[in-house]
Amino acid sequence: MQEINDEKIKIEDVKPDKSLRILTGDRPTGHLHIGHYFGSLKSRAKLQDKFETFIEVADVQALTDNFNNPQKVKDNVTQIIMDELAVGIDPNKVTFFIQSMIPEIAELTVYYSNLVTIARLQRNPTVKTEIAAKKELFGESVTYGFLGYPVSQAADITAFDATYVPVGDDQLPLIEQCREIVRKFNSIYGETLREPVAVLSNTTRIKGLDGNEKMGKSLGNALYLSDDLEEIKQKVMSALTDPQRIRKDDKGHPEVCMVYYYHKLFSTENECKNICEECKAGARGCVACKKQLIDNINRELGPIREKRHYYEEHPNEVMDILMAGTEHARKIAKQTLDRVKKSMMLDY
Ligand code: TRP
Repeated sequence: MQEINDEKIKIEDVKPDKSLRILTGDRPTGHLHIGHYFGSLKSRAKLQDKFETFIEVADVQALTDNFNNPQKVKDNVTQIIMDELAVGIDPNKVTFFIQSMIPEIAELTVYYSNLVTIARLQRNPTVKTEIAAKKELFGESVTYGFLGYPVSQAADITAFDATYVPVGDDQLPLIEQCREIVRKFNSIYGETLREPVAVLSNTTRIKGLDGNEKMGKSLGNALYLSDDLEEIKQKVMSALTDPQRIRKDDKGHPEVCMVYYYHKLFSTENECKNICEECKAGARGCVACKKQLIDNINRELGPIREKRHYYEEHPNEVMDILMAGTEHARKIAKQTLDRVKKSMMLDY
């Protein structure tokens, strides 16, 4: 077996090994957008052929900051799976499962919670940032559930003996916390759990159509995999362009233009080169430039949207995939829980 002792690894450096498991997940709080597509979905579609892959719909985790909106979480469970299926993640290769249907994960969370201090959770940079951003929800004091979600995420990962966890870099502190829990568990109760490695995809975060560093539903600046041609048109037509460019023959600055930024994601290298030169020379109108972008986005997202339509019309098929995956996942989590309880002398 290859030696894995790195804390994190880049996606192009992982060696395929079908005997190793990957686990990753999403909070079902909204449809997936092209930030997810370039940041994680494309790499999931590649990794599914290299490892045994598990993808969790983290509904329990989603509730930690949406406890007052269970309908939203429930509605998005199938929406997220439809997005994943639409981009080519294959249910014959990947196990999709619903977190709340695996009570073994909740039980592991309870046992692991003895191994983490409150101070350590409060120091977790991701949790810290999120708490600061959720003042409206949490007021003066954060809930026990939200503060503890890294412990629950450690249970998600270790329940499946996952070796690799493909995530964005905002998740690194959570993987680090999981690794600490594993080490502490193993040092107290004996070698039981596997220490996971974060796998970083090589794309950076995709900016919103308005130029905001982050793309998100609440910011209203996202392009969704479920958007139809009309929505794409409307969003691209209102995207932020070079504010200094008023007339068509003004010399442009593509580096500050969101339309050019998106061309770099969806158009060929040659097209980008021409666009950049023409824009700088004042020889290209923004409207034509946007139309070309709309065509290219539609060329990439059109087939995804069609595949998504199929699943929208066959919701029972989506539920069947989730139920079959969950049943399989639960068997594995049960084996881990048995092992954990044995190590903890709870095997009555
Ligand atoms: N915290 C992750 C996010 O917000 C979702 C998640 C839940 C996850 N459980 C996981 C990611 C396990 C990787 C592994 O995107």
